[in-house]
Amino acid sequence: MKTLSTLAAAATLALLGGTQGALADGHACVFENDPIDFEQSEIDALYACIVDDLAAGYAAEGHEIGSVYREWTATATGPYNPGPHGDRFLNTFANDVAADQYNQYAFGDDLVMPVGSILAKESYSLRKDNTPRPGPLFIMTKVEAGGDAEEFGNWVYSAVQPNGKNMGVKQSFCHNCHQAFADQDSMGYPDPSVRLSN
Ligand code: HEC
Repeated sequence: MKTLSTLAAAATLALLGGTQGALADGHACVFENDPIDFEQSEIDALYACIVDDLAAGYAAEGHEIGSVYREWTATATGPYNPGPHGDRFLNTFANDVAADQYNQYAFGDDLVMPVGSILAKESYSLRKDNTPRPGPLFIMTKVEAGGDAEEFGNWVYSAVQPNGKNMGVKQSFCHNCHQAFADQDSMGYPDPSVRLSN
């Protein structure tokens, strides 16, 4: 027989869950703390809430990178706290051309990623009601020297919206910030706290 308190608990959970639902263990996808103060368990729980929706969204229109990046190599132990990309949680994947080099997080004036390298960064944040909100998939593609992208370090910047549609980005907007990483071939790299040990 259900007691009043379990009924109340279920009702509260349903309320908290809102339209975002809840995880299999009943953890509602609502996060009260400021993301900056998130513990690892909260970072993990938030990612678990959104991990499937993110990939499904980026792939929804058959985008050539949005549909495949999850098969690529992880560049970190997992997502990390919001940072430079507009208070978003971030998690980057590297294609086969890029992965070995990228995951050394190397620097040096002569560091140049191989042509064909693609880096795809998932982003998501919290809505005002503290439920997860998918953000764009940010992309950098290394192209041959000598073309239009030369002024941007031979990187082409692009992005996919959370609904899978292409998102127009201004090359100079992205590169003006990325060029600060001049001795890292314009790559920012994941936060040191989540880098893979190697
Ligand atoms: C205000 C600065 C800033 C702007 C503007 C910016 N980025 Fe970044 N980006 C970073 C930093 C810092 C990192 C590395 C740390 C991180 O992941 O948060 C990064 C990482 C990335 C990565 C992962 C590869 C890497 O550099 O390690 C991709 C892909 C990326 N950005 C794409 C873009 C695109 C596309 C745009 C334009 C729509 C853009 N960025 C605009 C600061 C910026």
